[in-house]
Amino acid sequence: MVTSNPALQQLGGYPLARLQDLANELRAQDVPLADFAIGDPDEPTPEHIRRALIEAVGPVSRYPTALGQRALRESVAAWLARRHGVEVDPDVHVLPSAGSKEAIFHLPLAVLDPHGPRRHVLWGEPGYPVYGRGALFAGGASDPVALEPDQGWRLELEELETSRLQRACTAWVNYPHNPTGASADLDYYRRQLRTAREHGLLLASDECYQEIWFDRPAPSALEAADGDFTGLLAFVSLSKRSGMTGYRSGAIVGDPELIARLRALRPNVGTASPDFVQAAAIAAWNDQEHVDERRKIFAAKRAVLLEFLATAGIEVSGSDATFYVWFRAPGGDDAAYAQALLEERIVATPGRAFGPAGEGWLRLALVPTVEGCHDAVARWSAALQAGRLPI
Ligand SMILES: Cc1ncc(COP(=O)(O)O)c(C=O)c1O
Repeated sequence: MVTSNPALQQLGGYPLARLQDLANELRAQDVPLADFAIGDPDEPTPEHIRRALIEAVGPVSRYPTALGQRALRESVAAWLARRHGVEVDPDVHVLPSAGSKEAIFHLPLAVLDPHGPRRHVLWGEPGYPVYGRGALFAGGASDPVALEPDQGWRLELEELETSRLQRACTAWVNYPHNPTGASADLDYYRRQLRTAREHGLLLASDECYQEIWFDRPAPSALEAADGDFTGLLAFVSLSKRSGMTGYRSGAIVGDPELIARLRALRPNVGTASPDFVQAAAIAAWNDQEHVDERRKIFAAKRAVLLEFLATAGIEVSGSDATFYVWFRAPGGDDAAYAQALLEERIVATPGRAFGPAGEGWLRLALVPTVEGCHDAVARWSAALQAGRLPI
């Protein structure tokens, strides 16, 4: 019998997959669904980005490098300067990734000593499960911190016991936040960076939803560093910004010493982006117009849902950025409410899919079109009036 990595036994299945399976069964029966479950919107990738990829496919195929093309690192640096007023050196502070997921998962391989006293990774729950899973597979431990609605779903490191901070190597923050849509301001990042540094922790900021904001632009943790990125890494991505989830392209930016370690580690991993994807990524980072257009589309969908939820008296929390709307389950049971919505052909994700601290809440991803959102809320409203859903 071949041995097994014990971390596999601790996974318990990817939580979003089960609900999607159920929705897929309905789809297989040709039941039309308003699918608000998976964070992968349908809006097309802008044409000039697709063209950049196609034009870069040459007759000869070569291995890409983990360091990536300098032009790509430059375009990330230029975007950071334009969008966040942050100056970075493309050769020292920036490393491309194949999307942020793999970069998040692999980070502990560079910073976690499985035999040392600091093998824990802190992250906020409800949250993206990959922070904890990366820790587990690197021989460490996941240490989720329950987030609270009355704290705006923000992880406050200074409120954790010192012993908990000092047994961790990394703390993940993720604003705008999946799944609650909560956001954070610059002061928040300053506080977290200060506490992380005090305790010798890496502050890792997952900023893949950075460009999906509504009232005021979301800051980057890099802005809080005032040019000294020691102990700080930000993970940025084109997936949500440019409608490029299938391209797999992002970047890791920050602490030069940690970037140097990742430059040593990552050629071993095999996640270097193909050169034609890098060409598309350069086109995407260099253009802001399509991002502003996408943001308007999400704002229109969000307005439809927020208006309906307010009229229906359903409590919304967070939800001020990202393409997620987060609401309290009427009746209190998120799984039961998701099931009842599915019977109305509306797919929402029960909050418990993001960990026990998400129980009692549900997430709507702004995936259907504006028209699809209108249809869904009409059905939802009719079901409420007919008494088929709890209030
Ligand atoms: C919080 C969060 N981080 C990271 C990712 C991964 O994004 P990507 O790998 O497409 O950049 C996702 C994807 O949904 C996410 O929700």
